Amino acid sequence: MIKGISEKTLPLELETELNLLEDDGQLRFLRTIDGPQQAHTSLNGRPILLLCSNNYLGFANHPRLREGACAAAETYGCSAGASRLISGTMGLHVELEEKIAAFKKTPKALLFNSGYVANLALLTTLVGNGDVIYSDALNHASIVDGCRLSRARLKIYRHGDVEHLDWLLKESANDFRRRLIVTDSVFSMDGDVAPLPQISKLAKNYDAALMVDDAHATGILGRSGRGSAEHFDLDYRDIDLQMGTLGKALGSCGAYVAGAPQFIDYLINRARSFIYSTALPPAALGASLAALELLENEPEHAQRLRYLTDYFRHGLERLGLVLRDDPTPIIPVVVGDPYRTMELSSWFLEQGVFIQGIRPPTVASGQSLLRVTVTADLTKSDLDRVLSLFAERRHDFSQPEGAAL
Ligand SMILES: Cc1ncc(COP(=O)(O)O)c(C=O)c1O
Repeated sequence: MIKGISEKTLPLELETELNLLEDDGQLRFLRTIDGPQQAHTSLNGRPILLLCSNNYLGFANHPRLREGACAAAETYGCSAGASRLISGTMGLHVELEEKIAAFKKTPKALLFNSGYVANLALLTTLVGNGDVIYSDALNHASIVDGCRLSRARLKIYRHGDVEHLDWLLKESANDFRRRLIVTDSVFSMDGDVAPLPQISKLAKNYDAALMVDDAHATGILGRSGRGSAEHFDLDYRDIDLQMGTLGKALGSCGAYVAGAPQFIDYLINRARSFIYSTALPPAALGASLAALELLENEPEHAQRLRYLTDYFRHGLERLGLVLRDDPTPIIPVVVGDPYRTMELSSWFLEQGVFIQGIRPPTVASGQSLLRVTVTADLTKSDLDRVLSLFAERRHDFSQPEGAAL
């Protein structure tokens, strides 16, 4: 804890709040990876196995992405130098947007500096006073913040509950001007998938727009990694707006929104977090272009990820852990108590395995968990080592009533 940084009131008040967080087992601090972002790396100078990153396909330190980033920086420099509507739109932005639109099979796409910013942009631009947003109870914090900032009325439906959404849409059918349904496709902490075909049908029935956050689906769901629309055989007429990130499975940084031209052109004209921010730099664009090419030409990364995820999930199940069978590499292992969760996370780290504990408010109270993520650059023997550690501590995991350990 920082002591005596000032005699002013605010730092002292903040210090008291931080102490309370610490007492509740909720204090957060930064851990520094000092090697590359990959399965075998190092943390504070010690070798570790990384099992909590979103670098699902292992692209972040792939030579082709590094080459793409370096070549773009060599040719175009290190900064876009301005926002997109001033002089920050470079050939690489346009090329990447065209490639993303083709990849997503949508008429148009637009880049944003991050997924957080893209969600804020969509929600604050498309709806406002007099409108209504229907949002899944477990949507990502960036959606929650976007909903709050939009000034639209917010109606939260129970997680993945299509009947509840239907009821909310029906009971407010004539009360609002615009209606927008928003959901994560893959929920970031639990790894489960939203029932998009049913949600899309409701959106059509009630003339509501549908916005889907594909942050954890891009590169992961669908035969060729195009995301949740491909997974469910839907298209941009079924899902009006698809937001996806470039900093997770695609190993670069930034985000995109893909959809019909009216949406994209409107965002260019009205989305403040697009208009008033310096554009993505060339190196990020070069890496993203390389990632899309790699995804298309080398499906083996996604295949390997699926194989390793199944292998690890079955290994945990053999230990008696009861897990949901979701088609994603996010495996939440519920512990319950936040202290015990963080103690387990520290214990794994002492054994050389980095698995982050997730506590409220990111998850509900009593639902603290170890969020294990599998990445394609792990090996089976890495996973065997992690499974043997889980076997040592298997009695520490909270399980549904009646589940045998
Ligand atoms: C579901 C979801 N949406 C949006 C974001 C934000 O994306 P970014 O990290 O690019 O800001 C994240 C993760 O950080 C996420 O998990």
